[in-house]
Amino acid sequence: MTKANPGLEGVVVADTAVSDVDGERGHLVIAGADVEELARTASFEEATARVLAAGAGTPVAAAPLAERLGRARAEAWELLPRLGDALDHADGMDALRTALAHLRPGPVWGGGGGAPDLDGDTDAALRAIGAGPVLVAAWSRRRAGRAPVAPDPALGHAADYLRMTTGQAPTPAAATAMNAYLVTVIDHAMSASTFTARVIASTGSDLLSAAVGAIGALKGPLHGGAPGPVLDMLDAIGRPEDAERWLLAELAAGRRIMGMGHRVYRVRDPRAAVLEEAARPLSSDRLALARAVETAASKILRERKPDRPLAANVEFYTAVLLDAVGLPREQFSPTFAISRLAGWSAHVLEQRRTGRLIRPASHYTGPRPA
Ligand code: COA
Repeated sequence: MTKANPGLEGVVVADTAVSDVDGERGHLVIAGADVEELARTASFEEATARVLAAGAGTPVAAAPLAERLGRARAEAWELLPRLGDALDHADGMDALRTALAHLRPGPVWGGGGGAPDLDGDTDAALRAIGAGPVLVAAWSRRRAGRAPVAPDPALGHAADYLRMTTGQAPTPAAATAMNAYLVTVIDHAMSASTFTARVIASTGSDLLSAAVGAIGALKGPLHGGAPGPVLDMLDAIGRPEDAERWLLAELAAGRRIMGMGHRVYRVRDPRAAVLEEAARPLSSDRLALARAVETAASKILRERKPDRPLAANVEFYTAVLLDAVGLPREQFSPTFAISRLAGWSAHVLEQRRTGRLIRPASHYTGPRPA
C-alpha cells in the first residue's frame, strides 16, 4: 500500500460544475461566472439559484427560490421556541451546528435503483439556508441579552440578516456589502467543509446531516475560523507604523499570521480583492490599517519564505467588511457558514448524482499479528 498524503493536495475527488479555483492565477469561477462579476451583480438568492442549479444539473428559478427562502426564514423563526438550550453556546459555530440539527432532516437516499429525491433534497437545502441567518442572529442577540428579531420574508436574505442582528433596517450600503460578502464566499471548490459534506452525502445520509458535519469542519481556524482573529490582530496592531514590529514578534513566537496564506492560492486570493472593494463604500477606518498590515505581512512572509508565496486570503478583508456592516466578531465565522450552506447544498445535490460512496484507503502502520 502506498504511503498517505495527509493533506490530499492535488488529489481530485469529484467532478463538479459548482465552482473552480485556479490557485496559480488567482481566479475563482462560481457556476460559470467570475466571482468579481457575481459579487457585483447578483443577489445572494440569484447566486444560490445558480449554485443549486449547477449541483442539481437542472435549472433553478431565482424568483421562486427567493420567495421560498423568505418562507424558510419565517419557518426557522417558528422553531426558535422549541430549540431549548441549543443556542446556549459561547461559540456561534457550536450554536449554529446544534440549532440546525433541530431541523427536520431531508430524505435519506440509499443508492441502488431509484433516482435521488431532488425535490426533497432541494427543500431541505432551502430550509437549511433559510434557517442560517435566523439562528445566528438569534444566538448573537441572546448573548448580548437582547430579544431576537423576527425575520421579514419580503426582504433580501442579506438585508434581513443584518436587520435580525442589529434590530434596525440596514443602510443600503451595508446591505449591498453584506450581499457581496455572502455571494463571494458561497462556494470554493473542494474546501475541507465541502469535502466533508460530500462524504456524508455519499453515504446516502440526509442533507441536514451533511450541513451539520460541514459546519464542524468550517469551524477550525485553518479553514473558516480566521476572520475574528484577523480583527483581533488589527486591533492589537492599532497603527500602520506598528504593523511590522507586531508581525515580526508574532512570527518569532511561532504563530501564523491570520488571514495570510492558502492551501491552493499561490497569489492573492481573488476574494480578498472583491471584499476589499465591497468594503470601500462603508468608509471603515480599519480599511487603511488592513491594507498597511497586508503590505507589511506580505513583505515579511516573502522574505521568510521566498519559495512559498503567502498572500492575503479571503478572511483578511472579511474581517474588515463584516465589522464595518455592524457584526460583532464572534459572528464572523457563523456568517461564513450562512453563505456556504448554499455551496454545501449544491455539492450534496451533485454528489447524489454520482451515486458513489466515498471510501478511500489508508496505509496501516501498526503491528501485525505474529
Ligand atoms: N503565517 C506564517 N507562516 C505561514 C502562514 C501564515 N499565515 N501560512 C503558512 N505559513 C508557513 C507554514 O508555517 C509553513 O512553514 P514551514 O514550511 O516552515 O513549516 C509554510 O508556510 C507552508 O505552510 P503549510 O502549512 O504547508 O500551508 P498549508 O497549505 O497547509 O496552509 C493555511 C494553508 C491557510 C492553513 C495557512 O496558510 C494558515 O494557517 N493561514 C493562517 C490561517 C488562515 O488565514 N486561515 C484561513 C484560510 S482561508
